[in-house]
Amino acid sequence: MTASVRPTASSRDAFSERLLKGSVRKSYAPVVDIDWAAPLDPDKFFLPPRIVSLYGTPLWDSMSRAEQIELSRQELANTLSAGIWFENILNQSLLRKMMHQDPTSASTHYELTELGDETRHMVMFGKAIDKMDAKPVRPRLYQRMIINTLPFFFRGSVLWVAALVGEEIFDSLQRQMMDDPELQPMVQRLMRIHVTEEARHIQFARDGLRKRIPSMPWYKRVWVANLNGVGGYFFRYLFTNKVQYARVGLDARAARRMARASAHRREVQISGFAPLAAFLEEVGLMGRIGRRMWRRAGFLPARTPRALTAGAAEAGADLTEEVYDGFAVLDNGDQDRRVHVRLTGHLDPIDGRFHWRGTILDAPEAVTPGPVRISIGTRTVDARITERTSQGTHSIAGVGEPPFELDGAGTSDVSVAG
Ligand SMILES: [Fe+2]
Ligand SMILES: [Fe+2]
Repeated sequence: MTASVRPTASSRDAFSERLLKGSVRKSYAPVVDIDWAAPLDPDKFFLPPRIVSLYGTPLWDSMSRAEQIELSRQELANTLSAGIWFENILNQSLLRKMMHQDPTSASTHYELTELGDETRHMVMFGKAIDKMDAKPVRPRLYQRMIINTLPFFFRGSVLWVAALVGEEIFDSLQRQMMDDPELQPMVQRLMRIHVTEEARHIQFARDGLRKRIPSMPWYKRVWVANLNGVGGYFFRYLFTNKVQYARVGLDARAARRMARASAHRREVQISGFAPLAAFLEEVGLMGRIGRRMWRRAGFLPARTPRALTAGAAEAGADLTEEVYDGFAVLDNGDQDRRVHVRLTGHLDPIDGRFHWRGTILDAPEAVTPGPVRISIGTRTVDARITERTSQGTHSIAGVGEPPFELDGAGTSDVSVAG
């Protein structure tokens, strides 16, 4: 048994100990913590209007307020239903994993506590669907069979990434909406309870990943970093499930198409995914393919910023060129300094390596040609100052992984040069 106790167990246990204390201090029993007898307000939404998938589309505008409220009710029932089966497989995975663990350790005890939280959440979601007088959205038999196999694959780092994908997007959306005055008070209360307990689950999963990553073999890291992108397609499927449109009497296919094409909807999804995207980038678990999948599913901003496309098209410039124009930290050996840079790069077909170069607009005079280190966000790479130009700027170049990110996430700080 002791063989399964990992070397990092002690710090993991200390972290779990803190979460256990937090759980004792603040946990809920939804059976008594929500007033299930209170009547619903017929004029209030079940999801804030701007979070409903069709908001901002012509179809939404053509609906009466009562119809809009009804769609929000069906969408909430759909989301809560998915929450129930997701928590079911998370609990199954935790129980399977626990069979191999030390039953006296704090991390095992925290996992059992989380399992208990999720069990109460499933009751809470089930009661809420019932209270709303809605029908749960149940996956088809073949889908349920597939879902039930997931706990066999959700192990190790895959489990923690899956937990984060399942928890963080809902969590950040719930945080955005739980104080909305348009929302049914019962739903507000439910979200408040869920957010409080999920905050600990998210910390636990993030900590699990942070501690595992240093000892992960590279191929596993690549696998996990790209596999997570499947989450984007799953959420797109879930959020635009045809059932919810059919139940309010809309043309389900047309409604789904409209929701998927909605720019507002994309914004909502991007904001929901942003905290997790930042975390995955930070810990190096956002691979190229994974990122592309999240972007295609509408959870990351489009690859090329609109300003770049428009500006470059007008200028007749080469659209394949992408430019990072923003801040960086330059370390030239004696001090770190925040500087403004414009960088670009390309994969060289001759040596097969990525070559990047550009200009530091405001480096101190004292910087001379030679080796430096440059950081943008969490990326730090070696580079070389190649010259001080006649315009008073400095040229910088490097080979290998560039300090900037041009493939989707982080495009907020990418803009067209000049
Ligand atoms: Fe939960
Ligand atoms: Fe959770």
